[in-house]
Amino acid sequence: METYEKTIMVTGGAGFIGSHVVRFMVNKYPKYRIINVDKLTYAGNLENLRDVEDKLNYKFVKADIVEDEEMQKLFDVYKFDGVIHLAAESHVDRSIASPTEFIMTNFVGTANLLNAAKFHWQDDYKGKLFYHVSTDEVYGSLGETGLFTENTPYDPRSPYSASKAGSDHLVRAYYHTFGLPVKISNCSNNYGGYQFPEKLIPLFIHNIKNKKKLPVYGKGLNVRDWLYVEDHASAIDIIFHKGKVGETYNIGGNNEWKNIDLIRLLCKIMDRKLGRELGESEKLISYVKDRAGHDLRYAIDSSKLKNELGWSPSLVFEEGLEKTVDWYLNNPEWLENVTSGDYLKYYEEQYLNR
Ligand code: NAD
Ligand code: TYD
Repeated sequence: METYEKTIMVTGGAGFIGSHVVRFMVNKYPKYRIINVDKLTYAGNLENLRDVEDKLNYKFVKADIVEDEEMQKLFDVYKFDGVIHLAAESHVDRSIASPTEFIMTNFVGTANLLNAAKFHWQDDYKGKLFYHVSTDEVYGSLGETGLFTENTPYDPRSPYSASKAGSDHLVRAYYHTFGLPVKISNCSNNYGGYQFPEKLIPLFIHNIKNKKKLPVYGKGLNVRDWLYVEDHASAIDIIFHKGKVGETYNIGGNNEWKNIDLIRLLCKIMDRKLGRELGESEKLISYVKDRAGHDLRYAIDSSKLKNELGWSPSLVFEEGLEKTVDWYLNNPEWLENVTSGDYLKYYEEQYLNR
């Protein structure tokens, strides 16, 4: 039987960022055993991991992090050395429509994992690590200027960000109270292949392709800092291995875009790729009712990560966006699969009366 240096539980590994993290770790560390624990909600899709599913150092386990006993059992069976915790409900609009699931998965689910790790590791914390993946949205909304640092006070304003903020606080509490070895990172908006098309970039690629309206919330003046998802995976790798226990690291793309400017750039790229006349896709832009409590601006100062651990983004946005558009255009079956069934119902409820 193969012996492994470490066994790592990656939660939410069938989702967007999780699948990139699993792929990255499975390929880069053949001596690590990666156990992907995922409930396979609407956002989890094993298609995302087709290229690694047969690797010997990879295993998928279908489980819900809200099931406390189930998590304890998994720790018993697999004797994890580390956890990289990404499983979450992740879409702000859904958190406005049904907050409870967010509280259960993001807060209670995280508490269950912390309890299981504490129970199984407390006799000897050496070599153990609980890495919690979080979002910049916990810091709230910025005005025209300023950046989120690791010391920015928490000010979450959506049920999604509040449930993530709560989970971050729990992780820190287990570090201070019980000595559980933890690390946290808070990252800005990710984009790239395998993102569920309810989030801005894949939704708009899908709609442009199908000549459907592009529902821009409010005036399109909200600002987000975008990071290519593979750069997030590489940052997680560096923090997991080299970051200091008990510390928090902000991860960002140093890449702020007003929504409407990003959408116009995306329309141009799509016109070119689809052989349409320049300006054709922009005509699909349709301003709709703003999101409730819509945060104006997110922007990350990731100088701690750069200065202490030497990480910086590898791609400029225009390049990353081209790659992303190519990915969705080259994987039409993936988009078709995830945009049938329940997705259509969600789309109607979300956008029909806006
Ligand atoms: P996603 O919605 O694409 O994937 C979430 C995954 O978690 C899915 O595979 C889903 O099946 C799984 N999951 C949900 N509930 C579960 C449960 N109860 N038990 C087990 N598995 C469950 O999310 P994502 O965009 O990949 O985000 C991953 C993590 O990164 C989240 O914690 C999110 O808060 C954080 N994050 C996301 C972004 C972003 O831009 N997407 C930015 C910063 C941080
Ligand atoms: P989203 O991808 O949902 O990420 P987040 O809300 O976590 O930042 O949205 C990115 C931005 O795009 C956000 O300001 C909301 C806006 N947006 C739209 O204008 N229309 C849409 O249909 C969606 C999904 C988002």
